[in-house]
Amino acid sequence: MEKVKVGVLGSGDVGKVLAGGFLKLGHEVRIGSRRPEKLQEWAAGAGNGASTGTFAEAAKFGDIIVLATHGEGTQSAVELAGAANFDGKVVIDATNPLDFSSGGPQLSIGFNDSLGERVQRWLPNARIVKAFNTVGNAHMIDPQFPGGPPTMFIAGNDADAKKIVTQVSEAWGWDVADLGGIEASRYLEPMCMAWVVYGIRTGSWNHAFKLLRK
Ligand SMILES: NC(=O)c1ccc[n+]([C@@H]2O[C@H](COP(=O)([O-])OP(=O)(O)OC[C@H]3O[C@@H](n4cnc5c(N)ncnc54)[C@H](OP(=O)(O)O)[C@@H]3O)[C@@H](O)[C@H]2O)c1
Repeated sequence: MEKVKVGVLGSGDVGKVLAGGFLKLGHEVRIGSRRPEKLQEWAAGAGNGASTGTFAEAAKFGDIIVLATHGEGTQSAVELAGAANFDGKVVIDATNPLDFSSGGPQLSIGFNDSLGERVQRWLPNARIVKAFNTVGNAHMIDPQFPGGPPTMFIAGNDADAKKIVTQVSEAWGWDVADLGGIEASRYLEPMCMAWVVYGIRTGSWNHAFKLLRK
């Protein structure tokens, strides 16, 4: 893939890990936050090609945009970033609509809608691809499991956008399974809960999904 600019919306672990993955592939990355100053330490350690900015500055910068914001803050982050800054762009949506108000996480949207679909509705001119929401950030880049490469499930309406996300995912060591249009996010977001519940039950976070085919 030719070198591109990537705008990452999200200053948490997922934003930083996916930013690091793109930098490793030689792309330029700008991470956005409501308070970009908190990313100074990250930027200092991330090397050439890394920069920080507001959500709007990161979105404007990116040829590809990564959405790695808290589920409940995602709509606000998208509004702060400015819808026009997403027009025509591939958007990797790694978010999950998790509600922590009653203690442990629960899904706050489903089963006939999803955050991925909402993001696509908020940004009708963007090419949203749900991806990287079904595994913990520690295993997003170069996942190492005895059973071989795990499967990254993706969903989105734009075939070319999914080709790009597939290329990136494969470069990071994933097998990719395309579940079709963005409405399949309503199945991918619950998969996040299956991943989390298994982690809580076992006290271990070193697992990933793999689709076995024959
Ligand atoms: N943690 C994981 O391993 C993992 C794995 C897969 C998917 N996910 C999903 O990926 C997303 C990011 O997770 P994370 O753990 O890296 O971080 P997070 O704490 O869920 O989200 C941090 C980001 O959300 C933004 N944010 C929070 N509330 C906001 C609001 N009201 N308005 C605008 N922005 C707001 C923060 O903005 P500021 O920078 O301004 O503070 C920050 O950039 C989540 O949707 C999560 O469910 C997480």
